Amino acid sequence: MAMVRVRRLLLFAAAQALVLWLLCLLAWNPRVQTARTALGDWLNGRHLYPCAFLKRPAVFAHGDSHYYVVWETTCASGTPVLEWWAEAAGSGPAPVRHYTKPSYRTIDGAHHRYTAIIGPVAGAARVSYKASSYRLSTAQHTFSRRGESERTRVLVIADNQNGPTVFRRVLDAIQRHYGSGSGPDAVLHVGDAVQSVDSLGDWQKQMFSPMEDGGGYLQRAPLVFVPGNHDHDKRRTPNNANVYADMYHGLYRTDDLDSVAVKNGSYHRFHHSLSLGGARLIVLDAECPSEEQSAFLERELRSDAFQAARFRIVAVHIPPFMEFWDPYAWNKKGEKHWGEHVRLEYNRLFREHRVDLVISGHQHNYQRSTVRRGEDPARASTITYAIVGGAGGALDRKRVEDWHMYNTTFLDHHFVAMDIDDRRLSWTAHNIAGTVVDSFVIERQVHGPPGAGRER
Ligand SMILES: *[C@@H]1O[C@H](CO)[C@@H](O)[C@H](O)[C@H]1NC(C)=O
Ligand SMILES: *[C@@H]1O[C@H](CO)[C@@H](O)[C@H](O)[C@H]1NC(C)=O
Repeated sequence: MAMVRVRRLLLFAAAQALVLWLLCLLAWNPRVQTARTALGDWLNGRHLYPCAFLKRPAVFAHGDSHYYVVWETTCASGTPVLEWWAEAAGSGPAPVRHYTKPSYRTIDGAHHRYTAIIGPVAGAARVSYKASSYRLSTAQHTFSRRGESERTRVLVIADNQNGPTVFRRVLDAIQRHYGSGSGPDAVLHVGDAVQSVDSLGDWQKQMFSPMEDGGGYLQRAPLVFVPGNHDHDKRRTPNNANVYADMYHGLYRTDDLDSVAVKNGSYHRFHHSLSLGGARLIVLDAECPSEEQSAFLERELRSDAFQAARFRIVAVHIPPFMEFWDPYAWNKKGEKHWGEHVRLEYNRLFREHRVDLVISGHQHNYQRSTVRRGEDPARASTITYAIVGGAGGALDRKRVEDWHMYNTTFLDHHFVAMDIDDRRLSWTAHNIAGTVVDSFVIERQVHGPPGAGRER
């Protein structure tokens, strides 16, 4: 009799374990996660959601020693504050705690947005922060600021937009690549984070929830955001849809986020530059070319910071040389002319001012070309163009042009790990299975005269 009872118990336990295992599988399934986010968003829209953080603080790299932080709650709550502190390397005196009152905007009854600027933190090795209010508080988050000669790991992604389930799979592969508990030091997003800039649901389902579920990198690795054509609201009106991306470069105090130009929607500046380890990176806005941006680009390219950097990089959503697109839209709807200024105006400057690497998205697949920068074979230096548009959006598989220059073409979803070391920038593109589909390195000699002689 006892034997039967034990056997029954064992069977019961096994059945329970099986159900639990199935539930776990389901909970981690990207499709189920996408559906769960959609349900949460729907409930929140109907005010059936508890007072909570809808978006945990997302940290954007904002120039060299500042960070722009945005978070959102489902309810309005008094006395919001961003507490932050910066620490130098090694152990020193207890860091000064800063309490910054964020700028606040009611987007609608269920979306309350807060923005604040951290900094200046020049010289700091670590920055920690925590957002709170009368009712709510986040955990404390920390991110590192790598020195010029320290290894700096940069995750490069773009064009997740309307493919949130695939994006979650890509994020799974990214987490496997970096290992749990670890991650990149910065995320370079080369545009088209969402399908519709004016859809609050798109921002939640396509960008913020997958990023929070898929490694939480927005909280612990500053985002270098390069705007795409889907990320802009070009209306310069007070209640425009530019609510989540950092487009306030040039403003360095949280109070400035309450300035008239920001409130009335006329302030609009995505272009900026910053250092990532030994690399200098210039971010351009492909969608809104302007005399101001052209002047900025020339000035930055000529700057000592850029010319003396070990690796010189430009990130711009629309690539100078595209080969894949929807043929009808390309030829009949004039989309081949979108962003032509990137090739006709900017690319000449990239080559003249010794840019090493141009990183783009826009085209939904992977391409990479390494070619000589100039006609003169004596100047052996090269420029590499990389298109990294595969974080989730539907793929572009139809060829519309042939520039006879790409060394690698990969027509599937992917991400890129760019590791910047003292003397070497190493780039590896991975598919969802984690397999390396392309790689290259740019190497530098350590000691050498400044300028062209430092290149190999
Ligand atoms: C918005 O504010 C700026 C700065 O005060 C001002 O120059 C601009 O004319 C304003 N635009 C509109 C549409 O009110
Ligand atoms: C890439 O392709 C171009 C054009 O065919 C060629 O000139 C160049 O040598 C190739 N580069 C590499 C690294 O294979």
